[in-house]
Amino acid sequence: MWRQCIDKSYNSKFVQLNKIHPIRMGTFYILFIAVISAVVVHGTFDMKKQNIVFIMADDLGWNDVSFHGTDQILTPNIDMLGYSGVALERYYSHCICTPSRSAFLTGKYAHVTGMQGYPLTNSEDRGLPITEKILPQYLKELGYATHLVGKWHVGGSRGEYLPLKRGFDTHFGHMGGFVDYYEYTLEEKLSNDLVSGLNLYRNETPAWDVEGYLTDLYNKEAISIIKSHDESTPLFLMLAHMAPHGSNDGALLQAPPQDVRTMRHVESPERRIFAAMVKKLDDSVGDVVEALEEKGILNNTIIVFVSDNGAMTSGNSVNYGSNWPLRGLKMSPFEGGIRLAGVMWTPLPKANHLYRGYVHVVDWLPTLLNAVGAELPNNIDGISLWDDIIINKESSRKEMFEIDDMFGFASIISNDFKLVTGNVTPEYSDYQGGGSLLRIIGKPPSYFDAIKKSKAYKSLEKIDRLKDTEYYKNVRNTLKVNCDHIDESQICYTKSDKLCLFNIKDDPCETKDLSALFPDLVESMLLRLTEEKKRLIPRSPLYRNPKSNPAFFNYTWTTFADHL
Ligand SMILES: *[C@@H]1O[C@H](CO)[C@@H](O)[C@H](O)[C@H]1NC(C)=O
Ligand SMILES: *[C@@H]1O[C@H](CO)[C@@H](O)[C@H](O)[C@H]1NC(C)=O
Repeated sequence: MWRQCIDKSYNSKFVQLNKIHPIRMGTFYILFIAVISAVVVHGTFDMKKQNIVFIMADDLGWNDVSFHGTDQILTPNIDMLGYSGVALERYYSHCICTPSRSAFLTGKYAHVTGMQGYPLTNSEDRGLPITEKILPQYLKELGYATHLVGKWHVGGSRGEYLPLKRGFDTHFGHMGGFVDYYEYTLEEKLSNDLVSGLNLYRNETPAWDVEGYLTDLYNKEAISIIKSHDESTPLFLMLAHMAPHGSNDGALLQAPPQDVRTMRHVESPERRIFAAMVKKLDDSVGDVVEALEEKGILNNTIIVFVSDNGAMTSGNSVNYGSNWPLRGLKMSPFEGGIRLAGVMWTPLPKANHLYRGYVHVVDWLPTLLNAVGAELPNNIDGISLWDDIIINKESSRKEMFEIDDMFGFASIISNDFKLVTGNVTPEYSDYQGGGSLLRIIGKPPSYFDAIKKSKAYKSLEKIDRLKDTEYYKNVRNTLKVNCDHIDESQICYTKSDKLCLFNIKDDPCETKDLSALFPDLVESMLLRLTEEKKRLIPRSPLYRNPKSNPAFFNYTWTTFADHL
């Protein structure tokens, strides 16, 4: 039975070595036993490779999930995965969609593949280089069925960039940054002309025939994939919801009216719609957990839930999300842009704790490959944190970079400290998403009622994976970031010739610049940053090609560069 959990290549090597040399054969046995015992000790031993369901939210802020402490927007299903699995206290990502998704798929920092900076536009002829091997390709080699539902956003201008050419068996979703939640169109300005085209596809074919609210469509697709999945192969499902990203400028926030009605306790009318968008996202997480349980495979599935970057409380694609009290928004290297909601649920009952160490988006690829007993690539930036997280020991992730040659900022986190340098748009460096945005009319809905009514709670109860309410309260209290007094006149803003140093453990809100106090630390961190910048591949300048105009392609955004 154990044979099934070992990569087929082991078996073929076994045969070859057997033929070649009996001594090497013995070496191989020792290696083999070592692998097996490592697998058994770490608990990944199973008859079958575990399924992986990776759920990514879009522009969901730190303060937009209730397990971080808020009562205003309740996310009981997401929270339950954290309470029954591992809630990640210090989950970090890149600060923009395209970079985060590139980093997740490759296990490499975005600046190493040239995918950093301003998110990919549909009129740009650019994509994640096809020389990069990505997670679904690794999993495909291990025999996984691979499905992408939702957002791609790492290249759509050429056929070779598309998900089906890069390891996914199926894709239903939007190729670019966002679409209208009902019309599935994306608008862009091409030489001062606002153009619009359909951006929703089923396996590369424009999906003219579908109808409904986008989050529901993606949810239905994910459930149908789970239900019809053939259990003789392991499943990799990437569910990249668009929620709660803003839509086109003219209709930024969209949710079904009946769901907005349930949010009448939210005072801000914009955030009320946003709250309904988050509710739909959370409902989908509940439906996915329920579908896995009903199929009887929840106890053999790893579920990850993360956001891709912080909320966009104001500015371009504003969604009225909140990173409060963390500083800064999406598109900034401050904590609000990069410190995010993160949860990993596994079938291992002992992996049930709050994990306080760093985890970075580049770490998912090796961590998940490790979890399913695969060999790890060695040319990546990611580190497998599987053991660290499961056993709840100190994180091997000590250092993280955010390098953006387009906006011209860079930051390095090293242990407790973070150094930020260069130009960050001041609006994106500020404290937003507090005050009136968080106000509640009357009493908020009851948190623990919502928890107990959630589908995730009921499904996890069925496989005996609940803990007591006290534990949930403790996790929630620990995750709530409190920054008693933020004196905005003392805030350090970076410029091309001005850097700031923060202790992000003692001062998670980045209020106190410590650079004058620790000049040696500043110097050594700058040195590391300079070294890392040598690996950077420049982000090509943003050129919106007029030949991409959907009017030339039956009003769809398409692989226009194949036709140039
Ligand atoms: C998972 O649960 C199903 C029934 O719900 C059971 O048949 C199966 O043996 C369990 N698998 C594991 C790996 O525990
Ligand atoms: C062109 O667009 C229309 C919708 O405007 C759609 O019904 C039709 O199927 C499309 N044609 C092709 C060939 O995709």
